[in-house]
Amino acid sequence: MKEHVLENILTRRSIRRYQRRPVPREILEQIIEAGSYAPSARNSQPWHFTVVTDPERIARVTAELKAAVLRMPQNPYKDFVGAASYSVNFHNAPVFIIVSGNTEASGMVESDCALALGTMFLAAHALGIGSCWVNQLGSACAEPGFRAFLTELGVPPHNYVYGSGAFGFAEGEPPAAPPRREGVISYISADAQ
Ligand SMILES: Cc1cc2nc3c(=O)[nH]c(=O)nc-3n(C[C@H](O)[C@H](O)[C@H](O)COP(=O)(O)O)c2cc1C
Repeated sequence: MKEHVLENILTRRSIRRYQRRPVPREILEQIIEAGSYAPSARNSQPWHFTVVTDPERIARVTAELKAAVLRMPQNPYKDFVGAASYSVNFHNAPVFIIVSGNTEASGMVESDCALALGTMFLAAHALGIGSCWVNQLGSACAEPGFRAFLTELGVPPHNYVYGSGAFGFAEGEPPAAPPRREGVISYISADAQ
């Protein structure tokens, strides 16, 4: 069991090409349940999971996000909007999950939501489902038009989007893991010389 968990962690990759076939509902529910079991500051569980599987609605999120980014002169993703490839298209995944959180429910809501999303990625991988973090939604979350759209979509009105993920069956082989950076570990033990 322990070996399986470690192997799952080491073999998960960000997937950017998906099959169109839908993810069965019971698999989605297991992924979301896993996310809801992530640790959270003072057990605040400040997250809300908006699970979008309607292709038209996913396309609308993309369109609304692009339009919002273009309305925001300082938006860091403005230069990416024209690129067909980048994740404003959510990699054409059949499932898109928005993790939003209530800042009043937790002093560490961003960390809580990120951990929930990371836990869902690992659960998805264990269940044969690929995933990829999509970063742009938070940058447009306060833009009035996009905010209204998020609310219409079911994101609770006072929640901020802290992360979102594309999910689905991977198309083709996953990419190789990028090499790990060196020099990022320091052991400070009593027996160190
Ligand atoms: C906070 C965060 C933001 C990310 N944003 C994006 C994104 O917007 N689009 C994308 O395709 N991948 C995104 N990624 C995925 C990373 O590019 C990916 O994790 C990294 O290249 C390492 O690859 P791996 O996940 O396959 O190990 C993001 C990952 C994190 C943790």
